[in-house]
Amino acid sequence: MRTQIGKNQLDIARDELLARLEGHSRVLVDVGTGDGRFVYRWASAHPETLCIGLDAVGERMREVSHRASRKPARGGRPNALFVVASAQALPEELTGLADLISINYPWSSLFSALVLPDPVVLAGLRRVARPGAELLLLLNQSVLDDRPYAERLGLPPLSEERIESELRPAYLAAGFTLLEHRLLEGDAPHQTSWGQHLTLGSGRRTRLVTAQAVNPASMSASEPRASSGAAEGD
Ligand SMILES: C[S@@+](CC[C@H](N)C(=O)[O-])C[C@H]1O[C@@H](n2cnc3c(N)ncnc32)[C@H](O)[C@@H]1O
Repeated sequence: MRTQIGKNQLDIARDELLARLEGHSRVLVDVGTGDGRFVYRWASAHPETLCIGLDAVGERMREVSHRASRKPARGGRPNALFVVASAQALPEELTGLADLISINYPWSSLFSALVLPDPVVLAGLRRVARPGAELLLLLNQSVLDDRPYAERLGLPPLSEERIESELRPAYLAAGFTLLEHRLLEGDAPHQTSWGQHLTLGSGRRTRLVTAQAVNPASMSASEPRASSGAAEGD
């Protein structure tokens, strides 16, 4: 898979990735990571976690991936990695690795894939997850509530009812059982550049959706499995 390191891109194989995993007990994959600052901060706060930021646009991660690649004394974070890929074609190298998949304030094709939802993208996310892994989405509800604008973007409405009737079965078919979905009051669980940008605008609303990776074929999947210590929830 293609990684971003400053202004350069470098392909790394699964073996190399597994070698980087050594000494880490958890893996975060942040899809649509943008500038990578959230991943950098998470890597600083959770040295036991290999933190992988993934975005379709490598250029966005240039500055932070450069900082993360330095020596630790100069701001380097050896447990942070930045991957250039789209959510529609998640790298095979990531298969079965993630304990936590976060998607914070997605836009364009990533946003529509989550709210339509798109079974191909959900299946890709499920492939990257370990059994019992947590999926945490922070969605810009204000965009979805502005119906003329959302319709121009091809985004459907997102109400509690629609989540239960349409998203729950689609996520479950892909192997994610929804745990929680609600409009946030107060601070979001993840502080990101885009989240900060949105909260500067008054009246912006964020929807939190969490789910747990289960066996897609399981008929009892409507009940969350006992967590293997995977879901951190923050
Ligand atoms: C609004 S920004 C949010 C960035 C970051 N998560 C944050 O909260 O600051 C959305 C990001 O999603 C990325 N993105 C959009 N569609 C994508 C896709 N299909 N696959 C991967 N990344 C995508 C964009 O390149 C952009 O960086």
